[in-house]
Amino acid sequence: MAFDKVIRGGNIVTPSGCFTGDIGITGETITALGSALDAGGATVIDATGHHVLPGVLDVHVHLALPFMGAVSADDYRTGTRAGARGGVTTLIDFAIPAKGGSLADAARTWHAKAEGKSLIDYTFHICITDWEHHKDQIKGMVDQGFTTFKEFMIYESEGWQSDDRAMFGTLELMKEYGTMLLVHAESSRVLDELIARHHTPALMEKFGVKLHRMTRPNFIEAEAIQRAVAWSEATGGQLYIVHMSTAEGANIIRAAQARGVPVLAETCVQYLVLEDSVFDRPDGHLFACCPQLKKPADMDRLWRGLKAGEVSVISTDTCTFTRDQKAMWQGDWTKIPMGLPGLETLLPLTYTRGVLRRRMTLEEMCRKLSTNPAQIMGLAPRKGAIAIGADADIAIIHPTSTMKVEPATMETNADWSPYEGWELAGFARTTLSRGEVIVDNYRVVGREGRGKWLPRTTAGLAGAARA
Ligand code: URP
Ligand code: ZN
Ligand code: ZN
Repeated sequence: MAFDKVIRGGNIVTPSGCFTGDIGITGETITALGSALDAGGATVIDATGHHVLPGVLDVHVHLALPFMGAVSADDYRTGTRAGARGGVTTLIDFAIPAKGGSLADAARTWHAKAEGKSLIDYTFHICITDWEHHKDQIKGMVDQGFTTFKEFMIYESEGWQSDDRAMFGTLELMKEYGTMLLVHAESSRVLDELIARHHTPALMEKFGVKLHRMTRPNFIEAEAIQRAVAWSEATGGQLYIVHMSTAEGANIIRAAQARGVPVLAETCVQYLVLEDSVFDRPDGHLFACCPQLKKPADMDRLWRGLKAGEVSVISTDTCTFTRDQKAMWQGDWTKIPMGLPGLETLLPLTYTRGVLRRRMTLEEMCRKLSTNPAQIMGLAPRKGAIAIGADADIAIIHPTSTMKVEPATMETNADWSPYEGWELAGFARTTLSRGEVIVDNYRVVGREGRGKWLPRTTAGLAGAARA
C-alpha cells in the first residue's frame, strides 16, 4: 500500500484503548494502522511523545448567527480556524429559518454562510420554528441529507419558540423517519415571570448582571427537560437535550434512560469548568450565556454524568460576542447578547480539566468529543474514529506542554475569553482534515473554503451512544 502521509510513533487514542503506532493515509482516508509502516515516498509526520486523537466534532455551534440584535462575531472563516487550532475537524451549526421562511430557505442561507469560508467539514441541524408551516417540510429536508432537527422551548421574541404541540408532533415524525430532535430545554413561561418580577430599575441598579443568575434557577431547566422527556416517552421519538447545565437535568436523563426512553444529552465545556460566581466579577456580563452557568455541585454532577454515561457528548454552543457587542446591555441584563466563544478551547479545556485532573480517561475524552458525537449525529463511520476507511481527520497534541489563553493570539474573533490567563494543554500541534495538514506547529495553515458539507442518511443515526 502506497501512502501519501504516515503519522509515526504517536500514542493513538481510540475509545477502547491506546497504543503506540503509525497511521497510513492515502488521499483523504486512513488506509493502515500498525507499527513501523513502510513510508516509502510518503510525508512522515513525527508524533512521538504526543497523543494522536480522532479529530473533534463540535456538534453545537452558531456561526454568524443573528441573535438578540447582534450577529455572532465568529463566522465560518474565523470560527473554523479557531476550531482547527483546537483539533476540531467537523462542526454542526443550526440553520434557523427567517420569520415566515421555509426549512429549505434556512439551509440555503447557512450553506451560503459556509461555502468558500469553512476550513473544516460541517453540516447543520435544521430548526423548526413554526410548526404549522414547517411540519410538512421535514421529510423533504431528510431527503436532502439533514437528519437532525432542533426546537427551542424559549426565545419567543426571536420568533424561534416551540410549544408542547410542536415538540410532540415533531417527535412523532422523528419516530416515523428515524431522525432525531434536539431541544433547548428551559421553561419559558416561568422564566418570563421571573424576569418580569425582577425587571425594575431599582433591582437592575442594585444587582446588575447578577439578575441573570437570580432569574434562572435550576428548576427552569429541569422542568423543561422533564416535559421534553415526557413527549419522547409518549411518542418513542429520539430526543437529544442540548447544552444541559444542571444536576437535576442529569438525574432526569439517567432515570429516563433507565426506563428505556430514547433520550440522549450533551453538556458544554463551559458548564464543566465555569461557575456562576463569574457574575460577581466587574466584567461578569461578558459571561451571560443561555442556559446560564451554574454551581460547583452541578459541574460535579455533569462530570459524573459523563463518566456514568447519561451525558454522551461535550460540545461548546459557540456563539461569540465581542466586548462591544456585550456592552449593548447598558445595565439591563435582558439585553446582553447571550453566548460564549468556544471552538478553540473545547479540546484544551476538556483535556486539561478532565484528563489531566483525572476526571476522565483519554479514552473517555475520545468518546465524548469524537466517537459519540459522530455516531449520534449520523456521521460515523466516516468521522470520529481512527480506523481504516475513516476520513483522516486527526488532532495531535502534546501531553503536558501548556499555552496561556490570550485572546490577542487566538484565531477567534472574540477580543476576550472566559478563560483568559488559563494555562491549558491540548491545543493541536498538528490537525489533519481529510488527510490535509491544516494546523502545523500550532499555526493554522489550511486553505479557507476547503471544508465540505456532510450529507447524512438516517442509516447513520445511532441513538444509543451513551458510554
Ligand atoms: O447563549 C447561547 N447559548 N446562545 C446561543 C443560543 C442558544 O440557546 O443556543
Ligand atoms: Zn440553546
Ligand atoms: Zn446553541
